[in-house]
Amino acid sequence: MKRKFFIDTDTASDDAVALIIALRHSDIEVVGIGVVAGNVPLEMGVQNALYTRELCGSNTPIYAGASQPLSRELRTAQFVHGIDGMGDIGLDLKGRQPDVGDAVDELIKSAHEFEGVLELVTLGPLTNIALALQRDPTIANKIKRCVVMGAVADHIGNVTPVAEFNMWVDPEAVEVVLHSGMNLEFVGWDISRKFAVITQAESTMLRAMNTPLATFTIDIQRVLEKFCENETHLAGFDLPDPIAIAYAINAGVADEVREMHLVVETHSPTTEGMVVMDTLGVLHQSPNALVVTSARHDVFMSMLMDALEA
Ligand code: RIB
Ligand code: CA
Repeated sequence: MKRKFFIDTDTASDDAVALIIALRHSDIEVVGIGVVAGNVPLEMGVQNALYTRELCGSNTPIYAGASQPLSRELRTAQFVHGIDGMGDIGLDLKGRQPDVGDAVDELIKSAHEFEGVLELVTLGPLTNIALALQRDPTIANKIKRCVVMGAVADHIGNVTPVAEFNMWVDPEAVEVVLHSGMNLEFVGWDISRKFAVITQAESTMLRAMNTPLATFTIDIQRVLEKFCENETHLAGFDLPDPIAIAYAINAGVADEVREMHLVVETHSPTTEGMVVMDTLGVLHQSPNALVVTSARHDVFMSMLMDALEA
């Protein structure tokens, strides 16, 4: 029996690679994909997800979700991934129709249909998840686990000095999720920065696979590559969502996880969106999440290459 996954995404250039890994993995069935505004406005994220699904030859349903955070204006990351989110390389990213249904309602339905076995993976802001929990709090105990690409275990942010983008877009949604009682597992941007950077040599090696998915995977990182060179100063481009989904599928991607108590900042203009992780347990609060604190680049790369094969 295949494991059942539901993926929530703000589809841009790294999300797309995460969708490829999931849609092409033989051990899992993606029962639904919900799209949320984040990296790009909602409609762009929907088109990017539909385009990626088509490349994978998949018929997994894709549903549009929230176009705005719970109570804030949307702040996108088009400066990171491009205006279209896919590297602005001229892909035909319009005119595809999403499946009929709302991502929030479809997540709730899937939690009930696959009670106890549904694995939820979030690759963007948590707006859809928070709305689903508000609409039906019982899903918190029906969803087996929720793997979140978000936050940073070392508190070195990518959108402010201390906040990671997905959490920063909608901190109020993070607060709802942290208080929901769901089994939460965080794969932070620190894991991407340390264990999912694709160097120039690896990029060349992936492109040399010479498959449509490998070429697509490299081509759409054009704008991200520049952002990493000039802003985050990494030794290549990093793939946060792909390493998060790889961990969700194969726990062996992580070589250290820790239980911690997490709190999100929703008020301070300096630290809003920061997910404070009580590393030393000084708050003496019971843990509310598992946090991946170290991972295996080699295991991740092997899963990525398997997904990109013809
Ligand atoms: O901080 C990295 C996260 O923000 C990734 O999910 C990326 O796609 C953006 O959504
Ligand atoms: Ca994302």
